[in-house]
Amino acid sequence: MTATQTRSFQQQIAEGIPAALPPAKPLDPSVSHAPRRVVEGVLSDEEKVLAIQNALRYFPPQWHRELAAEFADELHRYGRIYMHRFRPDYPMHARPISEYPARSRQAAAIMLMIQNNLDPKVAKHPHELITYGGNGAVFQNWIQYRLVMHYLAKMTDHQTLVLYSGHPLGLFPSHPEAPRVVVTNGMMIPNYSRKEDWNRFNALGVTQYGQMTAGSFMYIGPQGIVHGTTITLLNAGRRMGLGDKDLRGRVFVTSGLGGMSGAQARAAVITGCVGVIAEVDGDAIRQRVTDGYILQENVYADLGALIERLEACREAREAVCLIYHGNIVDLWERFARDHVRVELGSDQTSCHNIHDMGYCPADYTFEEAKQLLIQDKTAFLEAVAQSLRRHAAAVNELCARGMYFWDYGNAFLKEAGDVGAAVFKPGEQPLKPGEIRVIASPYRYPSYVEDILGPLCFDYGFGPFRWVCCSGDPADLEKTDRIAGEVLDNLLQEAPEEIQGQIRDNILWIRNAQQNLPVVGSYSRILYADSEGRMRISKAFNDAIARGELAGPVVLGRDHHDVSGTDSPFRETANIYDGSRYTADMAVHNAIGDSFRGATWVSLHNGGGVGWGEVINGGFGLVLDGSPEAERRLHAMLFWDVNNGIARRAWARNPHAISTLSRTMEAYPELEVTTPFLADARMVEEILKG
Ligand SMILES: NC(=O)c1ccc[n+]([C@@H]2O[C@H](COP(=O)([O-])OP(=O)(O)OC[C@H]3O[C@@H](n4cnc5c(N)ncnc54)[C@H](O)[C@@H]3O)[C@@H](O)[C@H]2O)c1
Repeated sequence: MTATQTRSFQQQIAEGIPAALPPAKPLDPSVSHAPRRVVEGVLSDEEKVLAIQNALRYFPPQWHRELAAEFADELHRYGRIYMHRFRPDYPMHARPISEYPARSRQAAAIMLMIQNNLDPKVAKHPHELITYGGNGAVFQNWIQYRLVMHYLAKMTDHQTLVLYSGHPLGLFPSHPEAPRVVVTNGMMIPNYSRKEDWNRFNALGVTQYGQMTAGSFMYIGPQGIVHGTTITLLNAGRRMGLGDKDLRGRVFVTSGLGGMSGAQARAAVITGCVGVIAEVDGDAIRQRVTDGYILQENVYADLGALIERLEACREAREAVCLIYHGNIVDLWERFARDHVRVELGSDQTSCHNIHDMGYCPADYTFEEAKQLLIQDKTAFLEAVAQSLRRHAAAVNELCARGMYFWDYGNAFLKEAGDVGAAVFKPGEQPLKPGEIRVIASPYRYPSYVEDILGPLCFDYGFGPFRWVCCSGDPADLEKTDRIAGEVLDNLLQEAPEEIQGQIRDNILWIRNAQQNLPVVGSYSRILYADSEGRMRISKAFNDAIARGELAGPVVLGRDHHDVSGTDSPFRETANIYDGSRYTADMAVHNAIGDSFRGATWVSLHNGGGVGWGEVINGGFGLVLDGSPEAERRLHAMLFWDVNNGIARRAWARNPHAISTLSRTMEAYPELEVTTPFLADARMVEEILKG
């Protein structure tokens, strides 16, 4: 940016709500837009008035008449009031931290993260402030964005900014050790947390769905999930005896090239398999071609041609990702009919958002389905239900021939089961509304956390640790990659055998990360590490900043999808079998504990991944600036942020968590956790029988 552009950017940030009403903005057709949300029959006429009155609260009365008409139009057209007129004119992307106008460095780092989450290269529907997952919002409207940036620009380290679902409640006096920002998203009274409630209360402008990292500004593009997907694929392969090191010559079929699902394309190639991904939306395919995640020449609209290429790639053991531009149901049915051999299968349509175009029904193009949703929601939902039943039937056929299928945390089994698809174990019935299974899952397929990530990663403390280089200098990313690799090399020397495999996978990952991952948005990286790994890597970064080896501060964070960050019975805590997987104490404690142990910002969300009402999750950001305070904070916070979950998983009797906990208690005598005695189930049964 030129000096003049920087000045103008800084002035606009500092201004917040503009002094003069900016001109209205037409919808920009060059970016992908959120589907229209249906409010007819959801908001009464009186509630529509309330939604507009709510929106007008941000503005002086002399603008109300003009804005009321415009907001009414937005509510009618889009089902939401995004306040498009107030979208800033400056380009939206993370800038080097020095370019943000701020009195607090920590606040400047948060501004950088917010802009990254709204960058059109990163966000799925940037102009509706949706980062990923169809409805994962950073803010509800553009005036909230402007106000938050304004507060961040003026705040000091003696204040904390409070955000209620995107709405900045304001700056409150605090102290330098407190978080600079505390975020909640979608926190509802439990009885009012059904999917329909989100639509209604979000339309009223009083809550939002923050997904996981979107509403906490910690999304770092699909690269953030490439690593987790790679690990899931490799371990799924190991489970099925398909190869220890890679998946060459094996076929993996799935769907979705969206915010997270797009990562499957890179992960497939990294593992060496033949990946096949169905995607209905041409925009999503184009975005992934632009990002360098897939190649245009591998996109097929014709299934016959795709199968021919697949067989050639299988034969040549080529690492490749083939894309079918069409519906996943058509693909599965054709593969079943033609007896195409598939070893691994999954699904990553946005089933968590099934009522709102997260899943495109078969026999409709993406556009036709959007129209149907607007015109006749009942018919749309019936088409989705039929499609899910066909979807499951075709998957079942391939599994009967040996395919290993898993639910990828998108609520596929739940939604398919709810509409009567054949996804249950023999003898199991579809769950009645509100019915829960405490002990074993009723589904015939596992969730990826039950079989893979839970027992092999989370129970050992391994989870998606990430960092962002705030200098905006690519050299910093290279240096941090090198530093992290060296720390992991050293850790491997002293690690017990049970976690050496995990560390090795991550050493390989970090050594190849630069070449495997095109940078999308900020200079950021992810790897899986346990609490010791996270603390040592972070300390090494902080030391490197203090020595001047890194050009700027580093933001630490993680996906909420982690050891302790999320309570979600069908996903992160799916491998908890003591009945507590329907509780949310761990995630809530985690956010509270992070907040007073040194996090720069913390967040707590309802929804995320599997859907509104189905999960409570939280995250943090922690700014490293090379100071001794940052070193103290990183130790206190990261230790808690992992070991909270290990202690809970151990109490739930998960064997790997018990061994990890006892190792940690030996190393840190000040940690003293209540540990379980194991009672013999047969003995208890006999006693009960009398
Ligand atoms: N990648 C992960 O590790 C991970 C982990 C947990 C959960 N998830 C879940 O995976 C889902 C996808 O997340 P996302 O951010 O990519 O969402 P997204 O909405 O950005 O992408 C989903 C994609 O699926 C496509 N799609 C929908 N129906 C289809 C159909 N019938 N056939 C083919 N394509 C279809 C959509 O066009 C869209 O591009 C979410 O439910 C998310 O919560 C992903």
